[in-house]
Amino acid sequence: MKLQSLIASSALLITSALAATTSYSSSSSSQPSSSCSISSHATATAQSDLDKYSGCKTLVGNLTIGGGLKTGALANVKEIKGSLTIFNATKLTSFAADSLQSITGSLNLQSLTILTSASFGSLESVDSINLITLPAISTFTSNIKSANNIYISDTSLQSVDGFSVLKKVNVFNVNNNKLLTSIKSPVEAVTDALQFSFNGNQTKIVFDDLVWANNISLTDVHSASFASLEKINSSLGFINNSISSLNFTKLNTVGQTFSIVSNSELKNLSFSNLTTIGGALVIANNTGLQKIDGFNNLTTIGGTLEVIGNFTVLDLNSLKSVKGGADVESKSSNFSCNALKALQKKGEIKGDSFVCKNGATSTSVKLSSTSKQQSSQTTSKTSSKTEEKNFTSGDVKAAVSASSAASSSSKSSKGNAAIVAPISQVTTLIGLLTATIMSLI
Ligand SMILES: *[C@@H]1O[C@H](CO)[C@@H](O)[C@H](O)[C@H]1NC(C)=O
Ligand SMILES: *[C@@H]1O[C@H](CO)[C@@H](O)[C@H](O)[C@H]1NC(C)=O
Ligand SMILES: *[C@@H]1O[C@H](CO)[C@@H](O)[C@H](O)[C@H]1NC(C)=O
Ligand SMILES: *[C@@H]1O[C@H](CO)[C@@H](O)[C@H](O)[C@H]1NC(C)=O
Ligand SMILES: *[C@@H]1O[C@H](CO)[C@@H](O)[C@H](O)[C@H]1NC(C)=O
Ligand SMILES: *[C@@H]1O[C@H](CO)[C@@H](O)[C@H](O)[C@H]1NC(C)=O
Ligand SMILES: *[C@@H]1O[C@H](CO)[C@@H](O)[C@H](O)[C@H]1NC(C)=O
Ligand SMILES: *[C@@H]1O[C@H](CO)[C@@H](O)[C@H](O)[C@H]1NC(C)=O
Ligand SMILES: *[C@@H]1O[C@H](CO)[C@@H](O)[C@H](O)[C@H]1NC(C)=O
Ligand SMILES: *[C@@H]1O[C@H](CO)[C@@H](O)[C@H](O)[C@H]1NC(C)=O
Ligand SMILES: *[C@@H]1O[C@H](CO)[C@@H](O)[C@H](O)[C@H]1NC(C)=O
Ligand SMILES: *[C@@H]1O[C@H](CO)[C@@H](O)[C@H](O)[C@H]1NC(C)=O
Repeated sequence: MKLQSLIASSALLITSALAATTSYSSSSSSQPSSSCSISSHATATAQSDLDKYSGCKTLVGNLTIGGGLKTGALANVKEIKGSLTIFNATKLTSFAADSLQSITGSLNLQSLTILTSASFGSLESVDSINLITLPAISTFTSNIKSANNIYISDTSLQSVDGFSVLKKVNVFNVNNNKLLTSIKSPVEAVTDALQFSFNGNQTKIVFDDLVWANNISLTDVHSASFASLEKINSSLGFINNSISSLNFTKLNTVGQTFSIVSNSELKNLSFSNLTTIGGALVIANNTGLQKIDGFNNLTTIGGTLEVIGNFTVLDLNSLKSVKGGADVESKSSNFSCNALKALQKKGEIKGDSFVCKNGATSTSVKLSSTSKQQSSQTTSKTSSKTEEKNFTSGDVKAAVSASSAASSSSKSSKGNAAIVAPISQVTTLIGLLTATIMSLI
């Protein structure tokens, strides 16, 4: 993972910085307009070390702050041509650099166990901001207008402020901040990835000015508002959230995979302007989702259509083209495959696999998952063997008829027959879904 390697490499860098000795030279320490060079690895461990820079308007070099200082202030310095790193200063409770406007490299605050506030009130421009392992922090202040990458991980921030005028970012990654309840941002474009995961499970996300993002991935989010979002160039994923409604009424295009997986509270989908998905559409394991609609303008799916769940309705009334086959499996016997079957007959679902099943035949599918409860319902040994090998067209038909016989005798289902069209190889459900999840992570 990007974040992991980033932490590892900055830890290495910082370790070597701490080992180096401070050396400092100023062209003139009395004029605050001067530019000062600091050694390539300067480390400040006391306020007196920082005071030496108070005559400098610009610092050239990478400044590291560590050791036992209790509070820290970097006064007068307006620009750092390099990075500012505060690492492992375990007695530091607050830090302020309120004159600082620009850092050409990164601003790293990492492993500061009792730091409660960090103030960069004038900071407008920075390449990357990394706030990592700050278990006591409650406020981070800045005025960032320009930042390429923002990582906020393992902090005690309850809300992410300080980015209230930022319009564009490459990476915005917020993860493992367990107290986080809200993030509101005016960002209009995300050129690489917007990712939220494993924060407080009540986190509300509001990105109402975001028009496009290369990819977005949300996990453990409670609500998400993206009122202006029109385009996702690559992938869009909602995995394991407690979101009850996804309302993305302006979204027109998703360039690659679009996944909605394991959102147990999800009830409503509204993607009324979505016309094209370049890759797969995966809607799976959203246990409360009965009615899958809200895609009334969706015409094209470039990959596979994969829908797994307890749904009774799958309404894709504008769908004209699916290029990668379909795997639609409902546990509900009220679900009808007729619309998809008609589309497939017209040749509009291409690809070498087409499976559509409802509750009447779902037992044979459940066998390949690990549910003991389900397999104990089935008495047929023939069908339980099919989980072990690749399906062929003949195998599937046999398994389906065996299990529909079994289930129609044990359940009172309407019994819509499964449709199994020419299949060269049907990947197992779990394999497909695992692959999708892996590609999202
Ligand atoms: C600051 O650190 C970066 C790597 O993080 C390095 O590329 C750069 O040369 C350093 N700057 C100075 C002045 O040593
Ligand atoms: C952090 O500082 C403490 C002393 O305050 C030291 O024992 C520890 O090794 C340092 N950790 C790193 C990763 O430098
Ligand atoms: C959030 O997490 C808490 C504690 O882990 C848990 O009790 C609660 O059910 C979770 N809420 C949701 C909506 O997932
Ligand atoms: C974002 O999309 C690009 C493709 O444009 C992909 O290579 C990259 O892995 C994705 N990043 C994330 C974090 O999903
Ligand atoms: C993504 O789409 C936006 C809006 O159409 C476009 O401006 C941008 O160049 C695209 N980005 C990439 C990486 O393709
Ligand atoms: C979803 O969350 C549960 C518990 O919070 C976890 O056990 C499970 O692995 C998660 N699943 C995914 C796909 O992230
Ligand atoms: C979806 O959002 C639009 C505008 O943001 C709003 O008018 C509409 O009521 C919302 N629909 C639902 C079902 O929340
Ligand atoms: C739907 O998307 C198209 C193309 O992006 C756009 O022109 C149109 O305004 C959108 N409609 C709505 C209701 O958002
Ligand atoms: C459906 O798509 C058409 C053509 O892009 C657009 O004019 C219309 O506004 C869309 N409908 C909705 C409800 O967004
Ligand atoms: C179907 O619903 C049951 C009970 O509501 C739940 O346990 C099961 O996980 C759901 N299955 C899927 C695939 O959503
Ligand atoms: C299933 O098919 C794959 C790919 O063709 C093959 O590698 C694998 O050995 C097959 N497995 C069995 C059990 O036939
Ligand atoms: C769906 O749920 C089943 C059973 O709970 C699990 O085995 C499977 O991994 C889940 N799929 C995804 C994509 O989370």
